[in-house]
Amino acid sequence: MAPRPTGPEVPPEVLAAFEAAKGFMPADEGLALHAAATEAAALGLPLLEVGTYCGRSTILLADAARTAGVSAVTVDHHRGSEEQQPGWEYHDPTVVDSEVGLMDTLPTFRRTLHLAGLEDHVIAVVGRSPAVARVWGGPLGLVFIDGGHTDEHATADYEGWVPHLAEGGLLVIHDVFPDPADGGQAPYRIHQRALKSGAFDEISVTNSLRVLRRTGSGI
Ligand SMILES: C[S@@+](CC[C@H](N)C(=O)[O-])C[C@H]1O[C@@H](n2cnc3c(N)ncnc32)[C@H](O)[C@@H]1O
Repeated sequence: MAPRPTGPEVPPEVLAAFEAAKGFMPADEGLALHAAATEAAALGLPLLEVGTYCGRSTILLADAARTAGVSAVTVDHHRGSEEQQPGWEYHDPTVVDSEVGLMDTLPTFRRTLHLAGLEDHVIAVVGRSPAVARVWGGPLGLVFIDGGHTDEHATADYEGWVPHLAEGGLLVIHDVFPDPADGGQAPYRIHQRALKSGAFDEISVTNSLRVLRRTGSGI
């Protein structure tokens, strides 16, 4: 198994903002994400996240981006994934827009980022990930996939964004569960696809968070 990553210390106020934010990422995976983002940001290219939700993981990308003088770009339609809808396991009624009767995580995300003092380092794109990927025009230093967890969404995220990842850049995938008893298999399937493509080497494993380095041009 790949070794656990070590990165620079996360500033205490950034860690506090991460821990206070709504979201799904545990601290150990957050530290691994921050280490990967710090390493990738040294390429001088933007860091891209699919799946903003309320900004918990975005805070860590933003801090790494700030240090390196690059931008973190985060993409979400802000209407929630399947498992976050009313009646499902991860639903949070406090992020429903009562006027339109749909989830809207954008206001909470904006508040989170403002309170963390990181607004200037993040470009938030509101839209469907495949549509945004189609109009995206430049190379990326990091692609972090944490959007929809169905095969349809995870595959579209992989096929939409990985072609933009620069050689030497990092692909990070969240919620990779080799054992179906632990969780859905779509992120695991794109993780396996990346490894089988021959275009990636795995450089760290932290619970369900996997970090792979792009070593070739395929997907
Ligand atoms: C698991 S949450 C992201 C969690 C976040 N990274 C964190 O650390 O708290 C997944 C997010 O992906 C978004 N999402 C799902 N499918 C999407 C798609 N096709 N395009 C854009 N966003 C999508 C949902 O709206 C949801 O906010």
